[in-house]
Amino acid sequence: MSNNIVVAIDGYSSCGKSTLAKALAKKLQFIYVDSGAMYRAVALYFLRNDINSQDAEQVEEALKNIHLNFHSRDYETHITLNGEEVSDEIRLMPVSDKVSEVSAIKAVRREMVKQQQRMGKSKNIVMDGRDIGTTVFPNAPVKLFMTADPKVRAERRYKEIHDKNPDITLEDIFENIAHRDYADTTRTESPLVRAADAIILDNTNLTPEQQLEFALGKVEPLL
Ligand code: DC
Repeated sequence: MSNNIVVAIDGYSSCGKSTLAKALAKKLQFIYVDSGAMYRAVALYFLRNDINSQDAEQVEEALKNIHLNFHSRDYETHITLNGEEVSDEIRLMPVSDKVSEVSAIKAVRREMVKQQQRMGKSKNIVMDGRDIGTTVFPNAPVKLFMTADPKVRAERRYKEIHDKNPDITLEDIFENIAHRDYADTTRTESPLVRAADAIILDNTNLTPEQQLEFALGKVEPLL
């Protein structure tokens, strides 16, 4: 039996999961895994190769041809898709608009969950996503479920991506977030739902430092 610690952080889109997960991993010297980046990279592959999400054969074939790798430099997510660094491209709107559809496909989830479980087998990790505490690591000793006011989430995301995407409006982002909340919580496969033993962290009015302190308070007793 391995005694490694897994911290599972789930929650809605753009509510600061990755900011907290990164800070926590850095502080504890754990590995940080952004599971959303994996679904985004798969969505990018589907877009580039015009894969029909409804066609099971095409999906299976695509999954065989997708090879993802993380390179953690300074706790930022660097992900490669078949050897190509796609970390910036997966944050752009075409991928954000496609990813809900792709992440709802059963075969895609099965493959991603398998890869994620492998990553948490023997190492201390912090993984953020939507189903980490429910499906990927149901026995994780620490589970946080993050939420925040949708308007606050849209404003934060806008500030984050506006420099790289000057044409984007706050309304575009708000709509994308609302759409993803709906899709994430209503899909049949692993919908976003709080694990019964997950601690709710509403960060609408909390600074990143306060969130980190809260999370450390849950993990440090286990070290
Ligand atoms: O965390 P994010 O916004 O980068 O995630 C992108 C999309 O991937 C999001 O719309 C939901 C999906 N996702 C998922 O279904 N399961 C996960 N574990 C992580 C992300």
